[in-house]
Amino acid sequence: MRLIFLPVTLSIALAAAIEPLDSHPWQAPGPNDFRGPCPMLNTLSNHQFLPHDGRNITKDKVISAMGSALNFNESLAALMFQMAIVANPSKNATFFTLEQLQVHGVLEHDASLSRSDAFFGNNYVFNESIFNETKLYWTGETLDANMLANSKVARQISSKAFNPNYTFTPTVESFSLGEVSAPIIAFGDMQAATVRRDLVEYFFENERFPTELGWSTRTEVVNIDAILRLSEIIGNASSLITSSEAVVSTRRRDLHAGIY
Ligand code: HEM
Ligand SMILES: *[C@@H]1O[C@H](CO)[C@@H](O)[C@H](O)[C@H]1NC(C)=O
Ligand SMILES: *[C@@H]1O[C@H](CO)[C@@H](O)[C@H](O)[C@H]1NC(C)=O
Ligand SMILES: *[C@@H]1O[C@H](CO)[C@@H](O)[C@H](O)[C@H]1NC(C)=O
Ligand SMILES: *[C@@H]1O[C@H](CO)[C@@H](O)[C@H](O)[C@H]1NC(C)=O
Ligand SMILES: *[C@@H]1O[C@H](CO)[C@@H](O)[C@H](O)[C@H]1NC(C)=O
Ligand SMILES: *[C@@H]1O[C@H](CO)[C@@H](O)[C@H](O)[C@H]1NC(C)=O
Repeated sequence: MRLIFLPVTLSIALAAAIEPLDSHPWQAPGPNDFRGPCPMLNTLSNHQFLPHDGRNITKDKVISAMGSALNFNESLAALMFQMAIVANPSKNATFFTLEQLQVHGVLEHDASLSRSDAFFGNNYVFNESIFNETKLYWTGETLDANMLANSKVARQISSKAFNPNYTFTPTVESFSLGEVSAPIIAFGDMQAATVRRDLVEYFFENERFPTELGWSTRTEVVNIDAILRLSEIIGNASSLITSSEAVVSTRRRDLHAGIY
């Protein structure tokens, strides 16, 4: 998720209608279809909310895809498109392609949850060994902000330790916080800042909406304030400093419950 320091100037009244997933069956990408480093845009293309070939992604298409599949507010989707359009190097571009998102250092960055750093090779295709590293920190059946934040920090330490070209600017940090909270926004409980682990793993591993696991589009509109709030929660959970109280992970708590 790309966020977002532009002033919100648009205020569009109509929310896009949610479309049933039945009318958007999943179809694997073919050899000439573009895909990129964003598991959500890939998923939207796989379900044909966005063009299946991964090309000509215009503002209108982003608004309607994010509205109908995720119940995103139109102005939020428009803002995200505005953030994304830098990916197309043409002047005054009106669309981007999923291939353009692959370029390292524009929007794509190091220490992703499911992609390798560009320094080591392919930086946009799902990478099982990287995602295995991430999942080590997803220690409960329900992911909370601490687990998501821990996986983010761990991927950064891994990159900082082993990638001599590791780059992670303050701008990347703000994007990264949006991306790490994105699973909660798409599939989780935004108020509690939690999300079922099985839904998130299925999504990353298949680039497919987890309808067969019981997920459906949320009925509440997703607004920018919810996204900013969740980014802040993940940011706070990324700190390695605690108060005097211990931070007890879910698994530890379960263990205690079992023992005592
Ligand atoms: C116009 C809209 C969007 C654009 C242009 C976009 C673009 C990107 C890009 C370039 C990355 C790669 C960053 C990296 O190097 O890790 C990324 C990652 C990601 N995006 Fe999106 N994104 C958009 C919307 C969304 C939405 C709506 C969601 C879900 C609610 C989402 C979920 C994610 C997640 C979870 C990642 C992290 C993947 C990882 O760390 O392996 N994105 N996005
Ligand atoms: C969409 O977002 C705009 C700008 O933040 C806001 O004014 C509007 O009320 C929102 N619409 C809905 C349906 O939440
Ligand atoms: C991109 O999509 C728009 C809207 O559907 C269409 O008008 C335009 O011709 C398309 N452009 C290309 C290059 O396919
Ligand atoms: C881009 O838009 C600006 C402002 O509208 C215009 O002056 C310029 O000629 C456009 N450039 C191209 C290459 O179309
Ligand atoms: C996955 O990432 C690792 C570490 O960056 C890399 O060594 C490996 O070649 C990648 N695997 C694939 C299939 O690209
Ligand atoms: C290496 O780091 C520089 C500076 O951040 C960046 O411009 C370049 O794209 C990086 N290259 C790779 C392969 O990571
Ligand atoms: C990822 O973890 C699974 C389960 O532990 C293992 O079977 C698989 O070989 C691992 N994949 C890679 C590429 O390390």
